Amino acid sequence: MEKIILGNWKMNPQEKEEAVGLAKEIVEEVDKGIIGIAPPLVFLSDVSDVVSDSSVMLGAQDVFWEDKGSHTGEVSIDELKSLGVEFVIIGHSERRGLGESDKEVNKKVKQVLENDLKAVLCVGEPENMRNKGVDVAKRFVSGELEKGLEGVSMNDDSLIIAYEPIWAISTQSEGPASVDDVLEMISFIKRYLKINDLDGGTPVLYGGSINRDNAGEFLRTKEIDGVLVGRASLEADEFLKIIKSA
Ligand code: 13P
Repeated sequence: MEKIILGNWKMNPQEKEEAVGLAKEIVEEVDKGIIGIAPPLVFLSDVSDVVSDSSVMLGAQDVFWEDKGSHTGEVSIDELKSLGVEFVIIGHSERRGLGESDKEVNKKVKQVLENDLKAVLCVGEPENMRNKGVDVAKRFVSGELEKGLEGVSMNDDSLIIAYEPIWAISTQSEGPASVDDVLEMISFIKRYLKINDLDGGTPVLYGGSINRDNAGEFLRTKEIDGVLVGRASLEADEFLKIIKSA
């Protein structure tokens, strides 16, 4: 399977010019592969202009589950589509940490899939679960999958899972999870999808402290279908090196 490399810019950068500049540097160097960037909502329109004629996919970091109407501060799937958004990150641990529930995550996943965009569903256990052992971590992750994918029937390639153990995200950690730990959990997730008839060849990515130095060992591992990159996606040079290591 061709590797998928997505950048989650989170709440960065602070200036439009910087966002546009970063997108331009990436677009200039990327002409193939499954590469995507998810800038902050306010910069989507400007970054959309930059990526529109390129092979780089535009992503959003969230979406609301209702189609339209009185939902102050939210963004609809059609609004995202009108800017050329192709994928939406859903259920990131940083959003769950602010109170987003599995039920809300599930409604968002369905909204994205029903509207033919790619849904990147993030799952991953917190450190205290991992410390209780890998079986506890697996139970936590399968619980997130079960609730996040309730009512979803999959037979296309619109669903992407991103395994992001919270303890390995750069803001919480000195480095990534080990390739062995990631491989074990990703294999578990793939088995889970298969058993539950959700496997339409669903890619499963890893996210957490990926950088130019460690990306290669993850991307060379067959079962790891790609990476979701946070901090290192904010520097064009670093992100391009990650892409090259695929
Ligand atoms: P870092 O790459 O900064 O650890 O972030 C990972 C992440 O949360 C991507 O969604």
